[in-house]
Parts: sequence; C-alpha cells; structure tokens
Amino acid sequence: MALADPALPDFKDCIDATQPNKTFINCCPPAASGIMDYVPSATTVNTRIPAQSVGSDYYNKYMEAIQTMKNLSPSDPRNFRQQANVHCAYCDGGYNQLGSPKLFYEVHNSWLFFPWHRWYLYFFEKICQKLINDDTFTLPFWNWDASQGMQIPYIYTSSVISPLYNCFRNPDHLPPSVIDLDWSYGDKPEDPSTQIKWNLSTMYTQMITQSKTQTDFFGKAYRAGDDITTLDGAGQIEQTPHNNVHSWTGTAFDQSNLIDMGALYSAARDPIFYAHHANVDRMWTIWLNKLGGSNFTDPDWLNAYFIFYNEEANPVRVRVKDCLDLTNLGYQYEDVPIPWLDVSV
Ligand code: C2O
Repeated sequence: MALADPALPDFKDCIDATQPNKTFINCCPPAASGIMDYVPSATTVNTRIPAQSVGSDYYNKYMEAIQTMKNLSPSDPRNFRQQANVHCAYCDGGYNQLGSPKLFYEVHNSWLFFPWHRWYLYFFEKICQKLINDDTFTLPFWNWDASQGMQIPYIYTSSVISPLYNCFRNPDHLPPSVIDLDWSYGDKPEDPSTQIKWNLSTMYTQMITQSKTQTDFFGKAYRAGDDITTLDGAGQIEQTPHNNVHSWTGTAFDQSNLIDMGALYSAARDPIFYAHHANVDRMWTIWLNKLGGSNFTDPDWLNAYFIFYNEEANPVRVRVKDCLDLTNLGYQYEDVPIPWLDVSV
C-alpha cells in the first residue's frame, strides 16, 4: 500500500457549496492565479486581548477595520462578505479533494480544524491591520471560559448601528444571558451562578479529562482519499464548547438552521465568529503550554496546506507546520486567569 498523503483542497475548481436546507450557494472566492508560498514576516508579537475588557480606543479601531472591510468592493477577496465566504467554501463542499474529485474537502471534523482556523484568523487580522494602517492591531478573543466572558461581549451588541452588530443572533441569548457552553437546542437557562459552575466544569472535562491524547484534542487524522462524511473525526474542543457556542449564539429558524453563527455556511458573516475562534485558538496554546499537550509530528498533518488571500489580496499557500510557532505569526494571547484549571475553585 502506498503511503498516505495529506488531504488537500482542489483550489482551482471551486463549486457551489450546499446549505443545511440542501439548496446551493456560491461562496467561491475570486479566481486566483500566481499562488505564492507563505514566508513568515513578523517582526513583533502583538497581544490578542479579551473582548470583555477592551477600551474605547480599541473598540473604535476595531469598528473602523470591520467597516472598511465591509466597504471594499464585493469582488475584492478581502471584502467582509468574501472573507465569510472563505469559511463557507472550505466547509460546505466548495472544494473537492485534490486528486479525488468525488470526495469533498472539509476543514471541520478532523485534525485540520485547529490549524485551518488559526490561518483563517491570521489573514483576517492581517487584512484588518492593513485596512486601518496599524500593524499592531489584533483581534479580540471571546473569553467564554472565564466568568467575566460568559456573555456575548458588549462590543458586538451595540444597538446603535455598528459594523460588529449582527441581527441573526438568538434574542434570548443577548446580555445579560449567561452562555451555556454545553448548550443544545431547546435547553432552558439555569440561574447564572449555577451555569457558570457548569461551564467551568465543562471546560475542565473537555480540556483535561477528555483531552488526554493528540487525537482527543485535535481530532482524527484526515488524509488524501478519506471520506470526511464518515470520518466522525472532531476533537473534544471542536465538539464542545466550539459547536455549542456557535448554536447558542445563532438564531434558530428551525432546529437545523441556526443562522448566522449556527450554520457553517453563514457563521463567519457574524463578526463575533472571529472572537469565538480566537478563544478556540487560545485553547490550543493552553493545551500545549499549561496542560502538557504536544502537536502531531505526522507529516500528513504538518504538510497539509490551505490557500488564503492575504492582506494585499494575493493568494498564498500556507502549511500546517508554518502555524505552529506563534512568534512567526506575530501574535500571542494575553495571559488572563484560567479559572477551570482547578475546577474546585
Ligand atoms: Cu469553521 Cu467555528 O467553525
């Protein structure tokens, strides 16, 4: 038997993606030519901060970045809707697997989940920096694993017209509603202090008790020729709280269509998506730095690649192995308290 290869997207042939209601949606980015390989360029390390504690200068900058992104021409791959489409194309069948045109390519439900989303946020943040001409700007993280962060952060809920606002969120889950990190459709709210305790225990379970191995944490191997529809490969954090935060935030039109945040094709249309995923990405750093975890060394993980448009609107090929050292990417996370590390607190 031949050695396996990484699962790769066929970026040249983007096709319509399939929405949960089985209708099709075109979320293909503008056609790319002259794809370049990524070269690390960071000279400084910026710190991503918790969304619940940003100041007004930061808030204004953040709004300016997202508004500018929304104002770009719809054909510009850095346009906000185009950025949301990147997520749609990479997860709802917009690409087939390179070399296996009968199998669609997918960045959820496998070991590609963490690295793909890290790269996606990396370019989104770079685009923000470029558009506001501030290379120290960072995305905030939605600190849903600490009690101070267990609501939709206020910067996303402003009732004045704000580019960070999104109307497709569950009206029952706006502040002061406390998030349920283990939420499923139909769950009734608990009183806030009970909910906070349960959330901390969910974090402890998912990050520590259930994430003993690399496969537990990252998800199962996904290689060339694997059928993602039967792989069932999501890691513990992807399953809970990642998926639950999505569905808790989104508005339910019916149980299978929780837009925007609750459905993959539309999730990244809500600016809060990027703060949610910054915290998911932060969990990766915590698992490595505080819980003794380590990255896979399997070449099919390290060499898997994705293609994104960068801040200059040029397509770039990035590999998983190039996102493992955050210093090269030029960011880190503020070292905020992690209350679930000792769940008895
Ligand atoms: Cu790509 Cu939170 O999903």
